[in-house]
Formats: sequence, C-alpha cells, structure tokens
Amino acid sequence: MPSSLQLDDRVSSTARDALIPAYQRIRKDSELICTPLETEDYCIQTMPDVSPAKWHLAHTSWFFETFLLIPFLKNYRCFNPAFDHLFNSYYLTHSQPFSRPARGWLSRPTVAEIVQYRTAVDEAMIELINSAPDNRWQEIEALTVLGLNHEQQHQELMLTDLKHIFAQNPIRPRYRELPLPSANELTEISWLPVDQGIHEAGHYTHGFGYDNEFPRHRIFLQAFALASRPISNAEYLEFIEDGGYRHPALWLSDGWASLQTNDWQAPLYWEQRDNEWWHMTLGGMRPVDPLAPVCHVSQYEAAAYASWAGKRLPTEFEWEVSVAGLPVQGNLRHTGYLQPIAASDRSSLQQCYGDVWEWTASAYAPYPGYRAPEGTVGEYNGKFMSSQAVLRGGSCVTPADHIRCSYRNFFYPKDRWQFSGIRLARDL
Ligand SMILES: [Fe+2]
Repeated sequence: MPSSLQLDDRVSSTARDALIPAYQRIRKDSELICTPLETEDYCIQTMPDVSPAKWHLAHTSWFFETFLLIPFLKNYRCFNPAFDHLFNSYYLTHSQPFSRPARGWLSRPTVAEIVQYRTAVDEAMIELINSAPDNRWQEIEALTVLGLNHEQQHQELMLTDLKHIFAQNPIRPRYRELPLPSANELTEISWLPVDQGIHEAGHYTHGFGYDNEFPRHRIFLQAFALASRPISNAEYLEFIEDGGYRHPALWLSDGWASLQTNDWQAPLYWEQRDNEWWHMTLGGMRPVDPLAPVCHVSQYEAAAYASWAGKRLPTEFEWEVSVAGLPVQGNLRHTGYLQPIAASDRSSLQQCYGDVWEWTASAYAPYPGYRAPEGTVGEYNGKFMSSQAVLRGGSCVTPADHIRCSYRNFFYPKDRWQFSGIRLARDL
C-alpha cells in the first residue's frame, strides 16, 4: 500500500468526518478549474502528452471507481462499463487502456455525461466513506487519500495542458484574465553552502507521501552550494543572445539532437514580435518579464544553460537537503498568478516552492529498499523509473497542499510543456 495518514488502530468517526470535506473540496477544485472553459475547450488534444480536460475529469473519477467503489462498496453498479477502457490511463494489469495519443478523438461521452459520471462517483464515494467496515477502513482511507493526491496531480496537468491547447490556436485565447505581479527588483544570486557529509533524504513527516519518496535513507554529499533563486528570463536571454542554442559544445548529445529535431531557439511559448520577446501564458500573450524565473525549458536546455554559466544542475538530494525545514510557501496555484513571477521574499533561499519545477541532474530511480506497492496500484510510480529525470519544488499551478520537500516529480529530459525551470548548483 502507498503510505498514507498515520492512523490509530481504533477507527474513529473523526477520521471519516475529516476525509469527507477533504474529498469534496479537492473534487470541487477540479470543476472550478474548468469554470472558464467553453464546451469546445474540453475536447482538444494538441499532442500525445496533452489530455483533453474532459478526459482528466473522467479519468480521476475512474480512479475512485476502479480502486475503491468496485472492490469495496457493496452493490455498487458501474456507471458505464465502457468507461473502463476509455479512462484507464496506464494500468495494464487492470485492463487495456485506450490509446493515449487518441484521447482527443473522443467526442463521446459528452462533457455533460462526464459531469454526471463525476456526480455518481462522488455520491458513491461519500457512501463508501460513511459505511466502510472498520476492518477495511485503513485500506479504504489510504486509497482514498491516494485518489485525492492523484486528482490534484491531474488538476496541475489540466492547467498545463490547457496552456498548450490555447497556445496552438493562432488567436491565442486566454484561459482567464491573470493578475499582474507588482514590480520587484531581482537580487543577485548568492550561494548557500552545505558541508560534505552524511545526510538523509526521503519522506519523513506524518502526512501523505507517494511510494517513490520512500524509504528515507542516508546519502553522502560532497560539499556544494545551491543558488539562492532560479534563473530569470533576463539571465536566460543572455544565454540565447550569446549563441547558447548554436554551440553544440554546451549541450548533451541527446539535447543537441532534440534541439535540431525540434528547431529549439528559445523556451517553449516564446516568440519575437518587433524585436521583443513575448510568450504565451494562461492569460494570453504577454511580454516576457525579465525578472521572472525562466519557464518551459527542457532538462537539456537547463543543462546547457548551466554549462554556459560554468555551473551545474543540483542533484535531487542536494536540493532536498538544502530546502529541508523551510516552510512550504510561494507562488503556488492559490496565488492565482498561474505564471512564474519575480521573487517578492528576500529570504536566503527564494522560490524553492512554487513558480517553476526545478530540473535536477538526478535520474528518476528507486531509493535503496524501494518496493512498489502490491497490486495494480503498484503501477502508479515505480514502472516509470527509467529514462526520466527528477524535478523538485512545485510550480505556479501546483496546489499548495500537494507539495513537500521530499516530493519527486519526473519527466523526460526533452519535455518542455510543464512549468519547468532552472536552479544552479556548484561544487565547493
Ligand atoms: Fe492519472
């Protein structure tokens, strides 16, 4: 089982009472994210990595139906058996999923039918939470908490995917009007040193953690220093103007191949208008803010920038050891900017949570002693531990109660559509 809330052996009604409002709030958040959408917006898929908003809404419901309602709720009747094929993402030990790149072909079921599906699943989930027998409660609670964290991951993906969808449309629609950040000055990067020695990494609080954050274990780090803030757009522009995208010596071999294949010349969503750089945001096209963290770069671009700057990317453990103990605060989804903004705080380590996911140099791999959970739910994380890289810290579209120091996000080094940016490290 994935780790979850710590429970007393004795089941109290308080545990159930606490879970129901959390369930309702998080499920409602997915629908609130869709409030600015027109029906046509729900159906588009602009590349294989992007899923239509209505698919996200249905798939997150499928998760609860498949892992909780069907196995645990007596007399539950499946909403529509055909949905299992359509809305299974990648759980191959459960059933054959519908083709991921073809999710945009599904004009039916309609958005209205998917809303009905969500309502039916929600009603049944409340019934399950209220009626679950004590001897199954621990399992049901753990899976429900996993389902809610899964839902929050898809909320971030919905916003990320909607940005990509609107960016492909020449009229560049707005998802919604976004607030403008107040003007800030950028502080010079300073370097936070960490001594060499034995440290610990991995999940350690009482709250929820994914299986890939366990077990907590010891690591050895050489002395290093972490940059006090992420790289800004202005700093990245210097790299561009210095020919950063034209010098293969700065690039990893696979990165240079990606650059050539995809004709990369700047971060995703950047374009020049009258010699000024603009970029697509969820609020439509805007001039690039020189002070905001650079965003929508691949790990290859992050590594090339680091090479150009004479530095390197931190490992995930260097990031985690540096950030441990700091409060989780920053430009996360709740601020409403939905875009990275210049730092407003003047702490020694700025913007480690929110704004941009920070690429690390670490391959996404199991921690010593890791074991995937048993059963189909074991496919959630472990099977992706190949050829991907770890990102840390959350972004401007991450729910604030979904990120923590030990959280490991992972994408392929070439991926750019996530809100991903750069923080440097250097050896001491
Ligand atoms: Fe999923």
